[in-house]
Amino acid sequence: MHNVPITARRAPLRRVALILAALAGAAPAIAEDFGDTPYVQTPQNVVDKMLEIAKVGPRDFVIDLGSGDGRMIITAAKKHGARGFGVDLDRRLVVLANRNAAKAGVADRAVFYERDLYKTDIRRATVMTIYLLPEVNLMVRPKLLSSLRPGTRIVSHDYDMGEWTPELSLVMDAPGKTVGRDMKSKVFYWVVPATVSGTWRWQVTTAGRTQDFDLAAEQMFQNFDGAVVSEGRSGKIEGGKLAGDRITLATTIDDGGGATRYEFSGRVAGDRIKGEIRMVRNGETSKTPWVARRVEKRQPRHMSLPPPTPFDPPR
Ligand SMILES: C[S@@+](CC[C@H](N)C(=O)[O-])C[C@H]1O[C@@H](n2cnc3c(N)ncnc32)[C@H](O)[C@@H]1O
Repeated sequence: MHNVPITARRAPLRRVALILAALAGAAPAIAEDFGDTPYVQTPQNVVDKMLEIAKVGPRDFVIDLGSGDGRMIITAAKKHGARGFGVDLDRRLVVLANRNAAKAGVADRAVFYERDLYKTDIRRATVMTIYLLPEVNLMVRPKLLSSLRPGTRIVSHDYDMGEWTPELSLVMDAPGKTVGRDMKSKVFYWVVPATVSGTWRWQVTTAGRTQDFDLAAEQMFQNFDGAVVSEGRSGKIEGGKLAGDRITLATTIDDGGGATRYEFSGRVAGDRIKGEIRMVRNGETSKTPWVARRVEKRQPRHMSLPPPTPFDPPR
């Protein structure tokens, strides 16, 4: 995570108050200002959609970063039987959210803390919800990617995460929206990918012959590229993709006597992959277990992307 001082982090939030005011135009009061951080509610129909997209259920632990009046976690508990907590810097909102949880009868499963989202331990989450700002999303992105378990679902209201392509995005009517002129909201959805950057090694035995394989992977969020090398011959990774801990890739290696197409699918657990290899050679298909171990670990490329540039307030 980028180490940004709290004052610098909060600056964009002050900016959003200005943006919100500008967006609102002639419309009357919009963002309620609880102190120096802008507070804007997600309309209830958008909350419902976000939780539906993330398929929140009774086994989920949902965390809302910047929880406002608590509606996201309270709805997750009341309508979907989930548990979770929200954090907000504003004490009055935290008191309000805990009061709302009690009124809704879910105070045992929806709890709110006065806490800075950057200092919050989020490792327990199976679902994360956010309604922050574009720059804040980018600042929090490394924390989400490095702390959350592969497969954790993230849903964001209105703002994306820069270079991290969402699995799903939509625009919907938001009749209760208190900011903007068009009464529309955007929703973005991602799944935290396993980390596979580095070199992986395995062996394949076919017709009594054992071959060594190396996979060198360079990862950018849920995608990776690189090469598979076996006995001095290499094939480019095609369609290298992570869906949580599920990994798929393909390659074609020509050994001089003909080309073999390899299709890999499996599950990543730390420095191990277990799955299956489908091989096609001369029109014949065979399958064999795929058990790989990482022999060299590297930082994924997405962890060294530059942080957002500091905001210059409008004059
Ligand atoms: C746009 S509101 C979203 C409220 C709620 N999640 C919702 O969707 O209705 C953003 C909230 O984040 C809180 N916030 C801003 N910066 C924060 C930080 N660094 N740590 C915790 N909360 C923060 C604000 O006080 C505000 O309540």
